Amino acid sequence: MRAIAITPQKGNPHLVDRPAPAAPGANQVLLRILAVGICGTDREEATGDYAQPPAGANELVIGHEMLGQVEAVGTAVRRVGAGDRAVFTVRRGCGRCGPCAMNRSDMCQTGLYRERGIRGLDGYQTERVLDDEQYVVRVPPELGLAGVLTEPTSVAEKAIDEAVRLQIARQPFAGATPDWLYGRRCLVAGLGPIGLLAALILRLRGAQVYGLDIVPEDSARPQWLRAIGGSYINGKQSPSDALRDLTAGGAELIVEAAGIATLSFELVDALAPGGAYVLTGLPGGDRPLQLSGSALIRRLVLGNHAMVGSVNAARGHFQMAVDDLHAAQLRWPGHLEKLITHRHAPDDFAAVFTQHPPDEIKAVILWE
Ligand code: BGC
Repeated sequence: MRAIAITPQKGNPHLVDRPAPAAPGANQVLLRILAVGICGTDREEATGDYAQPPAGANELVIGHEMLGQVEAVGTAVRRVGAGDRAVFTVRRGCGRCGPCAMNRSDMCQTGLYRERGIRGLDGYQTERVLDDEQYVVRVPPELGLAGVLTEPTSVAEKAIDEAVRLQIARQPFAGATPDWLYGRRCLVAGLGPIGLLAALILRLRGAQVYGLDIVPEDSARPQWLRAIGGSYINGKQSPSDALRDLTAGGAELIVEAAGIATLSFELVDALAPGGAYVLTGLPGGDRPLQLSGSALIRRLVLGNHAMVGSVNAARGHFQMAVDDLHAAQLRWPGHLEKLITHRHAPDDFAAVFTQHPPDEIKAVILWE
C-alpha cells in the first residue's frame, strides 16, 4: 500500500510502498484512510526538522490529522463498528508515568511519549492503519470531510478547557459562573486552522471573540471569523498596545495560535486583570528576543495573570471536538468545509508539503 514518508533531518517527502496492516487483534480497529490534513508540524517535518523515525527505521510515515472509515474490528471492540467513520488520536504513552497510565499521554511527565506521524511511530498518510480501540473516536457521518478537522479542533479544545478550569479554580465567583466563557472577551491570536477552530469553540460557548492576524480585512480568514460572529483585529493596523482598548478593558482569555515568540510576549499587555493566557504555537528557530523582562513580570504579577502552555489532546478532547464540530455544522451549515481550501491526491505530495499558498487555510490529502 502507498504511504508518504519523510527522512528525518533531510525532509524530502516521497511515496513509499508499505505492507498493509494485519487483521485486527481482539482490541484493535482497522481504519481505511479517507483524508489526512496537513499542518505546520508536517511542513516542518518535510523540511527535515522535528520528526523522529520509529526505532531502527530511517524514515517516518508522516501525517497525524486523519479521518477514516472502520474496515474491521476485533472481537472485543465496542466503541466502533465496521462502516463507522472514526479517527485515531496522535500520542501514545511512555508506559512509565501516571498520566500515560490513565490514557492522558498528552500530559506525559517523562517526555518519552511517541506521536503517530511525528515522533517514533508511523503516521496516517497512507491507505490503512491499525491501532488499539482505546485510541479511536467515532465521528458522525454528517460531518463529511469536515471530520478531518477533529485533531486540530482537539488541540484547541484542550487549550480552552485548561484555561477555563484554571479560571474556575482560582476566581472567587466561579460557582456563580459555571458556564465561564459566556459573554467573556476572548482574544485569539493567529487565524490559522487552530486559531479559527478555537474561535469556533468560543463562539459556541457564547463568548465575544476577537481574532488577531495580519491578513487583509476582506480575505478568507477574517470573513470566516465574522460569519460565526467574531470580530477581526488587523495586527498590521493595531499595534499590540492598542489591542487592550479594542477588546474594551482587555481580554479575559487569550488563546495564542500564531507561534511568533515576540507577539506571544507582547500579548500579555492585552490581558485583563485576572485573565488567563494559553499558548499553543510552537515558534521555530532560536532567534534571541529582546524584551523588558521586569515590565513583563510586573504585569503578570500585578495582573494576577495565569499563563499556561498546552500541547496535544486526550481522547476526551477529541470527543469534545467531534461534538463541537457537529454543533457547528448544524448552526452554520456548510461553514466548516470552507476551512478545507485545498484538496490533493497523494501524488501531489511534493508540492503539498513544501508550498503554502496565501489563500490556503487547511490542505488535505484525499486517499479515496
Ligand atoms: C500536533 C500535536 C502534537 C504537537 C507536537 C501538533 O502539530 O497536533 O498532536 O502533540 O504537534 O508534536
